[in-house]
Amino acid sequence: MNLEVRDMVPADLPATLDIYNDLIESTTVAWTERPQTLDERRAWFAEQRRRGFPTLVAVDGPEVVGMTSYGDFRDSVHWPGYRFTAEHSIHVRDDRRRGGIGRVLMHELISRARRNDIHVLVAGIDSDNIESIRFHEQLGFAEVARMPETGHKFGRWLDLVLMQRILDGEIEAS
Ligand SMILES: CC(C)(COP(=O)(O)OP(=O)(O)OC[C@H]1O[C@@H](n2cnc3c(N)ncnc32)[C@H](O)[C@@H]1OP(=O)(O)O)[C@@H](O)C(=O)NCCC(=O)NCCS
Repeated sequence: MNLEVRDMVPADLPATLDIYNDLIESTTVAWTERPQTLDERRAWFAEQRRRGFPTLVAVDGPEVVGMTSYGDFRDSVHWPGYRFTAEHSIHVRDDRRRGGIGRVLMHELISRARRNDIHVLVAGIDSDNIESIRFHEQLGFAEVARMPETGHKFGRWLDLVLMQRILDGEIEAS
């Protein structure tokens, strides 16, 4: 394995779309039943760049094997008090899970978050996604809320688990 974590570029979008859409049809990891289109993904990526939010991929040679990013936890343009808190997402290609790629991606994302003065990172996880809950526990995240029936997919209610990690380092009061 020749793993590298770097900033996502437009040429990575189709591969990251496949990784994401793979989960839509068969799992409750993401709460939508409609696959994302490439145009929607391009628009999302452009917005990530405009806002200065990090969007990272893990590549093994020419292959994209995972990605992670963060954005607002709650709308920090309208409620600037939330600007030191971000919500992230992370996906590793299904045939490459449990090989340490997720951990490497999160370490880089956390380092970017610190550099950008993010104080708290939040993960919003479907309560059935025990793999992700264990993964985040290993990375120092703790469950802070469990919100029953806040989601709906495949004809049933879903519970949201919120996990957070307060990142080290002081922020300058402004
Ligand atoms: C969650 C996810 C990102 C983890 O990525 P990964 O590359 O498989 O994780 P790693 O190999 O880096 O695992 C790091 C540690 O997390 C824990 N962990 C990871 N997957 C686990 C699983 N399926 N069951 C239990 N613990 C797990 C383990 O402690 C693991 O360390 P170990 O293998 O030395 O025991 C990956 O499973 C994934 O993409 N899942 C589908 C999408 C998803 O659920 N995303 C998160 C949405 S909130």
